Amino acid sequence: MSNSSFFEIKCLSKGPQETLALGEKLGHLLFPGAIVLLNGDLGAGKTLFCGGLAKGLGIEEAITSPTFNILKVYEEGRLPFYHIDAYRLNQGSADIGLEDYLFGDGVSAIEWPEFIASYIPDNHLEISIEPTGENTREFTLAAKGEKYVEVLKKLEAFL
Ligand SMILES: Nc1ncnc2c1ncn2[C@@H]1O[C@H](COP(=O)(O)OP(=O)(O)O)[C@@H](O)[C@H]1O
Ligand SMILES: [Mg+2]
Repeated sequence: MSNSSFFEIKCLSKGPQETLALGEKLGHLLFPGAIVLLNGDLGAGKTLFCGGLAKGLGIEEAITSPTFNILKVYEEGRLPFYHIDAYRLNQGSADIGLEDYLFGDGVSAIEWPEFIASYIPDNHLEISIEPTGENTREFTLAAKGEKYVEVLKKLEAFL
């Protein structure tokens, strides 16, 4: 892999508002077809971050966990937003037409991506959230592919 197609940054969040703000900044920069993976244990802040993403995409509606629905679609923003929680899927049973979303023109944010690993395109933005205290989180944002590297470099400039 060449240097230009991978880029990683780390940043700290000192509370839910900062996580929302980080998501919102990223939401402003995402492009049609963008894939954002979210790693982190239950309660890490994946869904909260997606709320920020949605806000940055111009979605007013509150974002709630799609765990029991697997997929929620928000159409009222700058780009369609597909919020996926793969926790209840596994490789064999992901036959819900997920490719239509992942290879569509919207932005896909995926919680628990490891459950649908074979569906994930090679190029994507992978975000890992590590709790470091009750209200603090360490974010690692890793971009694979030139378009994602570009987005992440822009985001870094806004932090
Ligand atoms: N810095 C922070 N960033 C994100 N969430 C935080 C932070 N500090 C505390 N929290 C709390 O952690 C919880 C995260 O919940 P949620 O986003 O649903 O997690 P997940 O989707 O990863 O299971 C929320 O209750 C939120 O208020
Ligand atoms: Mg969640």
